[in-house]
Amino acid sequence: MAQNWTPTSWRQKPVSQVPDFPDAAALAATEAQLATYPPLVFAGEARNLKKALANVSEGRGFLLQGGDCAESFAEHGADTIRDFFRAFLQMAVVLTFGAQQPVVKVGRIAGQFAKPRSSNIERQGETELASYRGDIINGIDFTPESRIPNPERQIMAYRQSAATLNLLRAFAMGGYANLDNVHQWMLGFVKDSPQAERYRKLADRISETMDFMKAIGITPETNPSLRETDFFTSHEALLLGYEQALTRVDSTSGDWYATSGHMIWIGDRTRQPDHAHVEYCRGIKNPIGLKCGPSMTADGLIELIDILNPANEAGRLTLICRFGHDKVAEHLPRLIRAVQREGKKVVWSCDPMHGNTITLNSYKTRPFERILSEVESFFQIHRAEGTHPGGIHIEMTGNDVTECTGGARALSGADLGDRYHTHCDPRLNADQALELAFLLAERMKGGRDEKRMLVNGWA
Ligand code: PEP
Ligand code: CO
Repeated sequence: MAQNWTPTSWRQKPVSQVPDFPDAAALAATEAQLATYPPLVFAGEARNLKKALANVSEGRGFLLQGGDCAESFAEHGADTIRDFFRAFLQMAVVLTFGAQQPVVKVGRIAGQFAKPRSSNIERQGETELASYRGDIINGIDFTPESRIPNPERQIMAYRQSAATLNLLRAFAMGGYANLDNVHQWMLGFVKDSPQAERYRKLADRISETMDFMKAIGITPETNPSLRETDFFTSHEALLLGYEQALTRVDSTSGDWYATSGHMIWIGDRTRQPDHAHVEYCRGIKNPIGLKCGPSMTADGLIELIDILNPANEAGRLTLICRFGHDKVAEHLPRLIRAVQREGKKVVWSCDPMHGNTITLNSYKTRPFERILSEVESFFQIHRAEGTHPGGIHIEMTGNDVTECTGGARALSGADLGDRYHTHCDPRLNADQALELAFLLAERMKGGRDEKRMLVNGWA
């Protein structure tokens, strides 16, 4: 067990990004109540995810992590969850084919409610109010009452997470995630896409593979692994009182686990090594993520890795790099080299969203070309360094929103107002998310052919 650690030891450390709860007694009462509730996930599931991520860190898998920037209480319909899951699984199938490796599926869902903010204040015209910090903390309406942090919201978030997880488990295990279904949805996407010609080649190859499998008797009816899928949940462990309340001892191992989700991550704003968020995360046994932005130094990264993964356990730590399309070439190689030099086992994942946010027509948006460009650079750099580009981390929805520009339908700045629904950062819509998967899969296959040619001396 981690030295000198308890689920409350973070309270002795400086903490950033904490809301100002006006009623400390009410907050304590809510946390005490949450501590009596059942866990949302089991330790054994978190261990399975860690094993899957260990394979990724060793070059034998690919991590797909994605979902809302912030889940909201207002958008908690079955259709929203279903459409997300449907888009996400299609991406997973396309990427599995592209990578020719298992894809580990981790949603930013069933707990992704708390948001770090770059400013404590939001201004509209002459009025200044406390910033919105996610539905688990305060309300998005621009009124003074709504912006007051309210502990009751943690109970709501817990219950929403439980209901979301319940539906996701049913989808994943109850036949909906059947590979035939996912394949048919994917063909529907290709048929309707303005880039149909381009995607059809890869889609046809997937169809041929499916036909071949069917011909030799491997079908969802005969093979449970084609009927069901492993799906895991994740969120940023920002609201530590909530996380603490859901931190439980696993009776089989005696270890502490965060049971609010399978994987949790530390945000780019709360990764100070001697602060509360790192302290909390070092003591729980779940797989954890660490966001790495441009201010991460090589020494700082190694220090954090030593704190968060002292046993150098494969699958424990995923480095989620989010530099920006124009900065990734400057920052990623030095971090990769430091990690290689020190022999640290990590999963390298690329978040091409958070370094590529711009404002256009007063909307926060992200150009699709920049998102694609950051992931492409990420792949190229790993190829050059001889390391495994292990995954992507994206903000997406299954709905047809207009939040990121570009993509096959060429959304423009003028379209952003049509269906701009996010509670925080702009998300890829279902089509854009799938396009990203197709474009990456094409390149992964291309890269492999290139590598094969090199190995065989054809180049
Ligand atoms: C996020 O993932 O929504 C986020 C706030 O990211 P970061 O900590 O990388 O800025
Ligand atoms: Co975000």
